[in-house]
Amino acid sequence: MSVFSQATQERFQTLLSHYPVKRSALVPMLLFAQDELGYLPPEAIREVGELVGASELAVREVIGYYSMLRLEPAGKYHVQVCTNISCMLRGGDDIYRHCKERLGIGHKEVAADGVFSLEEVECIGACSWAPALQVNYDFHQELTPEKVDEILRDYRKKAAAR
Ligand code: FES
Repeated sequence: MSVFSQATQERFQTLLSHYPVKRSALVPMLLFAQDELGYLPPEAIREVGELVGASELAVREVIGYYSMLRLEPAGKYHVQVCTNISCMLRGGDDIYRHCKERLGIGHKEVAADGVFSLEEVECIGACSWAPALQVNYDFHQELTPEKVDEILRDYRKKAAAR
């Protein structure tokens, strides 16, 4: 019995069919798994490992390498604030501090209501539009504290609407 939905299992099969070596599909499969479950619990790690022919330990080593893969649940909206050099030079530290204050949580913490989690991260590839943050797969750039408030308000509204 799979821990994944039919749709995710089908995605896995499609991915596996694209690679001559099954293990090459591991990282994208883990991302799909995390998208569905919110994080990577042991049963998901085992199942993905079996599909690509890798041991649980080998899968855990890969998860440990990629910071975007999580072993603990995150909030519905995972806010990743870049404080790397370009962002730092353009106020990234202030943006991160502002997010901490507004959300009432710190690095790798989840808000009590589960709506937001926060993480301070290295470069997210949006240096030309620094300072930047990412919420799940969405990028937000050229930030100011006011813009951050607006962004967080919009996600909170979305969470309440579901
Ligand atoms: S340094 Fe922040 S996006 Fe590159």
